Amino acid sequence: MSNTCYEADVEKILISEEEIQSAVERIGAEINETYKDSKKTLLLVGILKGSVVFMADLMKHIDRPTAIDFMQASSYGTSTVSCGQVNLRLDLKTADLENYDVLVIEDILDSGRTLSCIMSYLSARGAKSVKLCTLLNKPERRQVEIDVDFNGFNVPDEFVVGYGLDYDEKYRNMPYIGVLKPSVYEK
Ligand code: IMP
Ligand code: MG
Repeated sequence: MSNTCYEADVEKILISEEEIQSAVERIGAEINETYKDSKKTLLLVGILKGSVVFMADLMKHIDRPTAIDFMQASSYGTSTVSCGQVNLRLDLKTADLENYDVLVIEDILDSGRTLSCIMSYLSARGAKSVKLCTLLNKPERRQVEIDVDFNGFNVPDEFVVGYGLDYDEKYRNMPYIGVLKPSVYEK
């Protein structure tokens, strides 16, 4: 099943549904290998809202005891790099992070500001290990150094939508990653 309602808005498909699904499988295997000797439960922390489609597919490939939780953040300001610029709209519900291996799940790593703040926050909350898994990575846009532990695809510096990523809250339900026609932004 595939949605057709956005077809007129999409200029090109950057990453197909099949390419995404094989990357999701590959990342699942990498995660299983990385944590195979750990005794702790894996806690997947999805960053809302963009990560939900990726996280739902990915967790089915994880073969170890796994819990999920969510956070939502929004970053403000452009010039300073500081955690003071990140606002938590929704915090974790999970207490006692020391009982978990924490794996943050993100849709796309762009400037890195939001993620680097979230990673330090989770360490400060007591998580022994905090790793990062992102479906997409735009290395050219990086403003804060950040280690990526699991990465789906590097993408060029273009605005992309689909598979969780939105423009104006739409397009998240496309099964592939695409680039929109310039006319969409002029509406
Ligand atoms: P940053 O890494 O702190 O700059 O923020 C990354 C967030 O910006 C992502 O989680 C997305 O919500 C949003 N974002 C960045 N690039 C794109 C894009 O190409 N399409 C859709 N959302 C994007
Ligand atoms: Mg967005």
